[in-house]
Amino acid sequence: FARDIEVLSQSKELPLPVFGEPDYPEDIRLKYRFLDLRRDALHKNIILRSKIISSLRRRMTDQGFLEYQTPILTASSPEGARDYLVPSRVHLGHFYALPQSPQLFKQILMMGGFDRYYQIVKCFRDEDLRADRQPEFTQLDVETSFLNELEIQVLLEKLLRYLFINLLGISLPNPFPRMTYAEAMRRFASDKPDLRIPLELVDIADLVQDVSFKVFSEPAKNSDSRVVALKVPKGGALSRKELDDYTQFVAQFGAKGLAYIKVNNRAEGIAGLQSPIIKFLPESVVFEILDRVQAEDQDLIFFGADHSKIVNDAMGALRVKLGHDLGLVAEGWCPLWVTDFPMFEWDQASVRWQAMNHPFTAPQINDIAELNAHPEKALSRGYDIVLNGIEVGGGSVRIHDVAMQMAVFQLLGINPEQAEEKFGFLLEALKLGCPPHGGFAVGLDRLLMLMTGCQSIRDVIAFPKTQSATCPLTQAPSAVEKNQLQELHIRLKEKIK
Ligand code: AMO
Ligand code: AMP
Repeated sequence: FARDIEVLSQSKELPLPVFGEPDYPEDIRLKYRFLDLRRDALHKNIILRSKIISSLRRRMTDQGFLEYQTPILTASSPEGARDYLVPSRVHLGHFYALPQSPQLFKQILMMGGFDRYYQIVKCFRDEDLRADRQPEFTQLDVETSFLNELEIQVLLEKLLRYLFINLLGISLPNPFPRMTYAEAMRRFASDKPDLRIPLELVDIADLVQDVSFKVFSEPAKNSDSRVVALKVPKGGALSRKELDDYTQFVAQFGAKGLAYIKVNNRAEGIAGLQSPIIKFLPESVVFEILDRVQAEDQDLIFFGADHSKIVNDAMGALRVKLGHDLGLVAEGWCPLWVTDFPMFEWDQASVRWQAMNHPFTAPQINDIAELNAHPEKALSRGYDIVLNGIEVGGGSVRIHDVAMQMAVFQLLGINPEQAEEKFGFLLEALKLGCPPHGGFAVGLDRLLMLMTGCQSIRDVIAFPKTQSATCPLTQAPSAVEKNQLQELHIRLKEKIK
């Protein structure tokens, strides 16, 4: 019982309630983050974050790993995003890049004989932000020498099971299920399928190749395209308005339409179906489709037909949206290894191959001539760990042979001079006795978002940035003094208001 009160520090009227959890506009929450951080849910998340980090450090040390630190002011480390650049004051016109990940440094540590590395490390990527992306975020970054991909995966699996059981009392499956990239794309049109949603895509190109309905038959004949059916059990109850809304939803991904068949009563044959497209399809084909997806009365089947990229983007997203809208998302935790990624993907805009992972990931084949002959067929030794439809981590076995690294650079359009200029230190290290090595990185913010049941990683970061990469608390990024720019040899083209 309190007997006395002494006021140590006074407060004005609060701009934001600190008791209870009323929903509050995020710009105010971020501006008054010091008050927001007192609110129960956020406060608990930040404490859990701290516990997870210390738990990870204990666990990694127990497993024989040591934490090594790598530079923040460094050269570009390509992970597929834009770099944040820092101008050099002493070297006119030269810039440091903030690391997108410590990828090359951890590989160099392997070459330096520190064969069990980990680091809880900040990474910086200038990319379009979403609920699960921040411009700076934290990784648990790991690298080992002499382990193969399975051994590395076991290490990460054990770590995740340990965290879930110790901090949440939840047992994750042992072992985690596995799926190849090709199967994930075929069945779920995503390389990070949420297996809690029991909806699957079924290819039907072979059934509609010869129909007169060109919307289906043309993509059905084209190897770059797909025609898929997505059965929604009991989807017959969807209203006209809902179907129109889903059509608009897929249009954002470039889909030109969203054909469907409602199965009212199969016993009545064609008369028991309702659809804007059955008039364009032979009856036999319609029933072959219904058989293939095992459609029953009251089900609805959606169709996507187009270039594979459009179908995958649109139908993969539709599958997830339907799962959530119709309450089909099962309770629980569905971890999944996705493996056997292609080494390269073709980028039409730049008319060249891009690395699907980063350019240091080893291919499954060791034959350079074969890789050069068929880059489109090459699979990598990379793997991702997906949890409830979110990519929480990924890694690979790396290239440790200089000839292979040069061949991969060459395929990516990096010629030997450019390779030497950007990655000369890596190439030199590869020539001087590099152990086979590999590793992974887990996105700690994403893992925490999942573990706390939050909708955004901003709710597990004490001082996050907004969707437009600003910090309302400190007003970063902000204008700087003219003399600071002068010292950095920078002149702005236009006056900033
Ligand atoms: P990758 O680029 O897959 O791999 O990143 C690893 C994990 O980091 C998380 N992540 C992010 N989290 C929040 N905001 C972001 N902008 C963001 N970008 C990535 C994801 C992702 O799975 N060097 C390699 C790892 C390796 O090969 O060892 C790497 O960085 O959860
Ligand atoms: P249309 O011939 O454009 O009137 O389309 C007939 C039906 O097919 C409509 O229900 C459209 O929504 C649908 N549709 C059109 N293009 C596609 C497509 N690329 N994929 C799936 N359905 C489509």
